[in-house]
Amino acid sequence: MTDTTTEAADALVIFGISGDLAKKMTFRALYRLEAAGRLDVPVIGVAVDDWSDDHLHHVMRDALDAEGEPVKKKVFDRLSARCSYLRGDFTDPGTYQELAGRITSSERPAFYLEIPPSLFAPVVAALGEAGLTEHARVAIEKPFGHDLASARQLNEELHDVLAEEQIWRIDHFLGKQPVLDLHFLRFANTLLEPVWNRDHVTCVQITMTEDFGVEDRGAFYDAVGALRDVVQNHLLQVLSLVAMEPPVGPGADALQDKKVDVFRSMASVDPGRCVRGQYVGYTSVRGVQATSTTETYVALRLDMDNWRWAGVPFFIRAGKGLAARATEVRVVFRRPPRLGFLDAPKGSDANQMVFRIDPDPGMRVEMLSKGADGTSARDVHMDLSFAAELGKPPEPYERLLHDVLIGDRSLFSREDNVEETWRVLQPLLDEPPAPVTYEQGSWGPAEADRLVRGYHGWQAPWLPGGAGPR
Ligand code: BG6
Repeated sequence: MTDTTTEAADALVIFGISGDLAKKMTFRALYRLEAAGRLDVPVIGVAVDDWSDDHLHHVMRDALDAEGEPVKKKVFDRLSARCSYLRGDFTDPGTYQELAGRITSSERPAFYLEIPPSLFAPVVAALGEAGLTEHARVAIEKPFGHDLASARQLNEELHDVLAEEQIWRIDHFLGKQPVLDLHFLRFANTLLEPVWNRDHVTCVQITMTEDFGVEDRGAFYDAVGALRDVVQNHLLQVLSLVAMEPPVGPGADALQDKKVDVFRSMASVDPGRCVRGQYVGYTSVRGVQATSTTETYVALRLDMDNWRWAGVPFFIRAGKGLAARATEVRVVFRRPPRLGFLDAPKGSDANQMVFRIDPDPGMRVEMLSKGADGTSARDVHMDLSFAAELGKPPEPYERLLHDVLIGDRSLFSREDNVEETWRVLQPLLDEPPAPVTYEQGSWGPAEADRLVRGYHGWQAPWLPGGAGPR
């Protein structure tokens, strides 16, 4: 294999273009790239449905409308002109022969697999057999494995055909601007780095609460659960950016090296330090087993054995059917000494720094100040909305698909990175604690409070439009 993986791709082939993800995310990303003049390759959608090019264009248009994307005719016409459809069964070698015929002039195709995970390896093998992978890159949707053994096996199967540099594992959280900002803010500002360690930080709380249930994804979700759905991938990636050391240089591998060090320094999680929950009513959702023990909520504690973070727990909680939609990273600092002259109230709050990822990404600093009466002390917040200050960033898939096309691998997870995250969580998959039920609209099961005892308790997330309860 010649390493052409950092050069721009010259065709984009999307397997699974008739699926839900395409309707919700892909078409919009393609449209926005087209509108910005950043899409300059033919796009070929492959799926088993009996569609024509015209039908694909209709579906694209409907999907853009359904997602509320304002569509300009000129842009859409340009996009349609570059998008064609290939009907094919993914298990039929004929599909790949036909595809080869369609992309004869492409030297560096990008294949994007938004298909069921059981098809990742067979599709890649078939692409290889059809002689299509030599200078190709293959972007793969989540989930990447369902435990450590399956992730390793999938890596091996992909490596039979592809070099690691050709495999682009997608995690859409890594395309979110506020997630990218995490390590940028840390290392681009001298204010933060000196206090970013065990000398100043008591704990870090990473929260991802969703105020909706599993909706129409019952069958998918029941086989997965919160841990696999959002912790193994999204939230551990976020954690690694909060905790990592600075990369030694530019480039994707320098960044991956530091991220994987974070996981390597983590002991595999102790099931005694994990609480699983299930919202009341979950087992009545269509597609969910009546006796299901799948968790719709999980809270856990992770510890790192390294110089920066030894003794500083990182708590993660994630769940559906909760009080509000909020994804944030909250760094809780040590309390100041109680000095007599300060007259600060007993048990006053510790400083906190919050990075809000969703919704309305932003940053908050919580500090203690004197009240206007000059005697009392109270918490004050310094809030920054990134969109208000900096403007609207690209959507995650817009960014990630563009990176696939131009050959920038920084935001895609490397093999060792993915395997280490599964290794850390594997004990919970082997011995999952029994789930406890919680009411929909709550903040999750009260049992999870024991995990953060002695660490200020779970902090209610900073919600947009208000100070947020504490
Ligand atoms: C997906 C999960 O990966 O991420 C969903 O499968 C979850 O269950 C979603 O709701 C959250 O992503 P976002 O970007 O909407 O916060």
